[in-house]
Amino acid sequence: MYQQVYLNGEYQAAEQACVPVMDRGFMFGDGVYEVIPVYAGRPFRLQQHMQRLQNSLDAIGINNPLSQSDWGHIFSTLFAHNCDTPDAYIYLQVTRGVMQRREHNYNADLIPTVLVMCHSHHYALTDSKTAGIKAITVEDNRWADCYIKSINLLPNVLRKQQAMNQEATEAILIREGYAVEGSASNLFIVKDDVIRTPPKSRYMLGGITRDLIIELCHDNKVVMGEKEISEDELHDADEIWMTSSTKEIMPVTELNQHKVGRGVPGPKWNQVQKIFQAYKQKLQ
Ligand code: PDD
Repeated sequence: MYQQVYLNGEYQAAEQACVPVMDRGFMFGDGVYEVIPVYAGRPFRLQQHMQRLQNSLDAIGINNPLSQSDWGHIFSTLFAHNCDTPDAYIYLQVTRGVMQRREHNYNADLIPTVLVMCHSHHYALTDSKTAGIKAITVEDNRWADCYIKSINLLPNVLRKQQAMNQEATEAILIREGYAVEGSASNLFIVKDDVIRTPPKSRYMLGGITRDLIIELCHDNKVVMGEKEISEDELHDADEIWMTSSTKEIMPVTELNQHKVGRGVPGPKWNQVQKIFQAYKQKLQ
């Protein structure tokens, strides 16, 4: 079975799908994207992901090129064609379109380029024996509009690679002494049994997984708060977790080569992980 992608109205084999070199996404990273988990064949938190897409498009002045039902139809077509597993993820990106000559400024009448892919994905059903990643702290050198899910990810790419080069999995970004998020994930800590995550701001991407965890903690009476996390508090945390649509909730067991807590996933992670997995099951 060959992998199919959706590109500008057509379903094509992934290897054959081409975008013109003058596409502003290729030239300038001028576009936005979404990553949406699919569990048991159904996109998860779809409405929230589509709202965030709309917010990103609005922020950079691109009209949403498709209706909600068109998007939904593309997602289900690609899932049915490409995936022989119940779980997958959808990647979509919208760029400002193809310009005639390379200029930073743009015409408002460009036709956006739409790419959608859907890949089978194995969500690691981690337990406290197997879970746990290493992370490092790095300076957050991104721009000041990180709430936009921009395809322009060079700082994130370089920070993630820096982590991998140091045999870690994720880089936690520090801006002016505060831990903001990961290079491709949001951040939670636990201190004295209280869960904490930084409040949303323009300096971070408001994660859909993050929002769900907050919602589930409230519904299940698990104490948690949204408050800034200083670098010192990060190092002093009993537990650290990174969250994202493709990684769910990852406990960090080593930070800058030092154990986090006892160096194993902590009891709060176990509790919230169970709640999260039960919530997923309930929807299936
Ligand atoms: N990234 N912060 C950043 C910088 C991210 O890139 C991501 C996700 C998140 C978590 O958001 P969510 O829970 O909505 O996935 C936070 C995706 C998965 C990616 O770029 O592949």
